[in-house]
Amino acid sequence: MPENRPSKLIVAVVGATGAVGRTMVQVLVEKHFPYTELRLLASERSAGRSLDVAGTTHTVGLATPDAFEGVDIALFSAGGGTSKELAPEAAKRGTVVIDNSSAWRMDPDVPLVVSQVNPDDLATHEGIIANPNCSTMQLVPPLMALRDRVGIERVVVDTYQSVGGTGHKAIVELEDQIRAHAEGRPKVASVYPHPIAFNALPHIDVFLDNGYTKEEWKVVTESRKILHLPELRLSCTAVRVPVFVSHSEAVHVETRDAITPAQARALFAGVDGVVVQDDPANNVYPLATEAAGTDGVYVGRVRQDPSIPGNRGLAFWVVSDNLRKGAASNAVELAELLVARGWIRKASERQAVGATAGSAA
Ligand code: A2P
Repeated sequence: MPENRPSKLIVAVVGATGAVGRTMVQVLVEKHFPYTELRLLASERSAGRSLDVAGTTHTVGLATPDAFEGVDIALFSAGGGTSKELAPEAAKRGTVVIDNSSAWRMDPDVPLVVSQVNPDDLATHEGIIANPNCSTMQLVPPLMALRDRVGIERVVVDTYQSVGGTGHKAIVELEDQIRAHAEGRPKVASVYPHPIAFNALPHIDVFLDNGYTKEEWKVVTESRKILHLPELRLSCTAVRVPVFVSHSEAVHVETRDAITPAQARALFAGVDGVVVQDDPANNVYPLATEAAGTDGVYVGRVRQDPSIPGNRGLAFWVVSDNLRKGAASNAVELAELLVARGWIRKASERQAVGATAGSAA
């Protein structure tokens, strides 16, 4: 819980009726985030609906530019189009936006932040802060630990991503297809181009000209930005699997200096929020079902990759709840940091205040 409790702190959640938005509200409540007013916003489809938040009934408002008047922090998860249109309007009205869409992530003037990896980047914000893609989010904490101790030469990551990341309709589609299979009926696919039940689809988001999917390319570009390694060599294959919640990743890292699995486990365990689960003899390793509903980034199956000489290769498995740490919880953690560090106002405004105070003295 933030130490600096302002006397007035108005928080808005845009997309409050969606899968991530609902989780954002839940995490704000769980963490006792010190808001004095909570505004739940969505499109005209849900405006006027009542939602219960910790025993209090809230009416969902329409997300318009004026809805941000007086709002200090707005958490957005309502799609890229809404963010492109409304985040600048909110920022203009003095709101700091923490945006979960991909609309602003690669804008050089927008900090892209994972709470335990590059929190200091928040200090530079000018009203919009980006929350990374869920697959990037769980990858960078262990990579940060390796970067800082032994350096990183190259990363190869393959993801096993749950349908929960696509939204509620994908969860329903997987359930329907499982039922159809059990009853001998054809499996109807509408959310994904092929049945997801009993399948693995190497296709998340659209294909780009370079042959990668947009999801895979986000992992490349966002990891470089968050880790401050603009030249990082990284390749990703992103796969949708019939799992309801939590993404899993097989990660292969070529390090600059030698490192043993035991040293890597100790490094990973030292990162805030990272939990090492690595006792294969007793069938202990990170699992999607166990990670679901928690905020941890779980790392296990840490082993030397013998295909790289000189003990400079590591392989490991990373699992995290994509709706929580992969989206909502990180966004709330960023809001907590803004409050605790006194960074709610834009960097330029804070500097102006500092300069005025300095000249007066
Ligand atoms: P609504 O309930 O009004 O459709 P999900 O990712 O689970 O599909 O959720 C998307 C969220 O984004 C929902 O809360 C949805 O609200 C909201 N949303 C979608 N389009 C807009 C928009 N143009 N303005 C505000 N909220 C939007």
